This record gives sequence, C-alpha cells and structure tokens, in this order.
Amino acid sequence: MEANMQKRKEPGKSLRIKVISMGNAEVGKSCIIKRYCEKRFVSKYLATIGIDYGVTKVHVRDREIKVNIFDMAGHPFFYEVRNEFYKDTQGVILVYDVGQKDSFDALDAWLAEMKQELGPHGNMENIIFVVCANKIDCTKHRCVDESEGRLWAESKGFLYFETSAQTGEGINEMFQTFYVSIVDVCENGGKRPTTNSSASFTKEQADAIRRIRNSKDSWDMLGVKPGASRDEVNKAYRKLAVLLHPDKCVAPGSEDAFKAVVNARIALLKNIK
Ligand code: GTP
Ligand code: MG
Repeated sequence: MEANMQKRKEPGKSLRIKVISMGNAEVGKSCIIKRYCEKRFVSKYLATIGIDYGVTKVHVRDREIKVNIFDMAGHPFFYEVRNEFYKDTQGVILVYDVGQKDSFDALDAWLAEMKQELGPHGNMENIIFVVCANKIDCTKHRCVDESEGRLWAESKGFLYFETSAQTGEGINEMFQTFYVSIVDVCENGGKRPTTNSSASFTKEQADAIRRIRNSKDSWDMLGVKPGASRDEVNKAYRKLAVLLHPDKCVAPGSEDAFKAVVNARIALLKNIK
C-alpha cells in the first residue's frame, strides 16, 4: 500500500486534467476539438447544446494525461447550463473568429463570466489560457490581425495560436503547447512556473500600441492636443520612440506602431511653423 502511494507521486504517472472551451457561438470551438481528436472537419454548423463532454488521452514527456474536455456552447441562451462547469479547470481554450471583430471584443466578457462563476475565492492565476485566432483560412474576411490578437493574449500572460480547424493549421502545435504548459503547472504544485507567468513587455507598451492603433489622427497618435508646438510634438515623439523602438520593445505590433509614430511626427512637423 505504502509502495503504491509512493509510486503514484512519481513523475511519469498518469495525470487527470480538466479543460474547457470558451468563446462566442460559431467561432469554431467544437471544430477545433474535433480536428485534434478525430482528425476531421465538418463544414455544417451544428451548434453545441449546453455542453459537450469528451475524454481523451495524450502524452506529455513521459506522462500519460487523461484530458476531460468540456466543450461549451457559446450562445448566451446556454449560460445557465455552462456556468456550472467553470470550476476545477486547469486549462481554457479561448477562441475567436479572425473574421468577426465582435468575437474578439467578446474575449474580455468571457473572462469576466468565468471570474464571476468562480466567485471571490476563485483563482485564475494558475489556469493556462490558450487563445485561438481561428478560421485563418478565410483570409478575405480577416479583420483582426495577428499582432492585435497576440498583443491581447500575451499582455495577459496567455498563449496565442493562429488556427484553422478546416485545414488543421496550428491545431496540433496549439494543443501540444497547451498540454505541456498545464503539466508544467501540475508538476510545480499547481502554481505557474514564474518564468512563464509574465509577458516580456510592459503594460505601458501594450497600452501605447493599442492607443496608436485606435487613434483618429496624427495628433491623437502622438497624444498631443491639436495645434501643439514643434517642441511638444518632438517631446511626445521621443517618449513613444523610446518606449516602442523595435530594439527595445518585443510587444506584438510594436514595429508598426513605431513606424506610425515616425510618420505622424513627420506629417505634423510639415505643417507647424
Ligand atoms: P457553438 O457550439 O454554437 O458555441 O459554436 P462553436 O464555436 O463550437 O462553432 P463550431 O465549431 O460548431 O463551428 C461553427 C462553424 O464554423 C461551422 O460551420 C464550422 O464548419 C465553421 N468553422 C469552424 N472552424 C473553422 C475554420 O477554421 N475555418 C472555416 N472556414 N470554418 C470553420
Ligand atoms: Mg460548439
């Protein structure tokens, strides 16, 4: 008996984990899971009714992992069914459709729903989240680009993958990295190893990139009032240039943001005496 108990604690023994899928209806949650588990794709939309449950076995390093997958329905109508299933989760597959901006904007609301259901004592710090930017095969309809999605995910310490359940692109890599990260947490006593828990860029950098991306004109981009002086423009420019210079900033989208800031300064200085 004692020997058995010791054996059970050894690394390399079977581990049971729970993962859930989250994201708006029709973004492709069920298809991503089906592509990985059954190696096939169904083009007809069959909405998940409440929850679909499945068990699968995977191997990570020398360990057998039994994965309980709870595939949630994204439609608001099923909130009462899915709210039961958030607790005791080790991993979340958070999906949006790169051709549906609404589904990307809804990611924060999905996190909020989970947080609310876990209650004040629920801890999301040690749950591994992987963001799937799905349907990348539909290139014509794409409206959320990679840097925008990656910035959102990585600034929260989440994994990010570009996927297509239709072609299979990114799916195996996504699941493999996801499961390895979950096992790392399990083997670290349920806590995220500190090296993986924080983004390699600052919140200030991420916020600046988002602000630049959403700015309405060059003044707004540099964060100065319309009619500002050359000195004010140059000062604002220098601050952003230091923050976002590609040699210093690895945040997704920093290179484009830096270029946009350079161009905004040139455009403004042309017209300021
Ligand atoms: P709910 O269960 O209602 O929450 O939706 P879901 O997120 O599970 O979506 P589902 O996987 O059922 O897919 C919705 C539709 O998108 C289906 O018609 C799929 O065939 C299609 N679809 C899913 N993934 C992809 C993809 O990567 N590319 C393309 N082109 N279509 C996809
Ligand atoms: Mg589904």
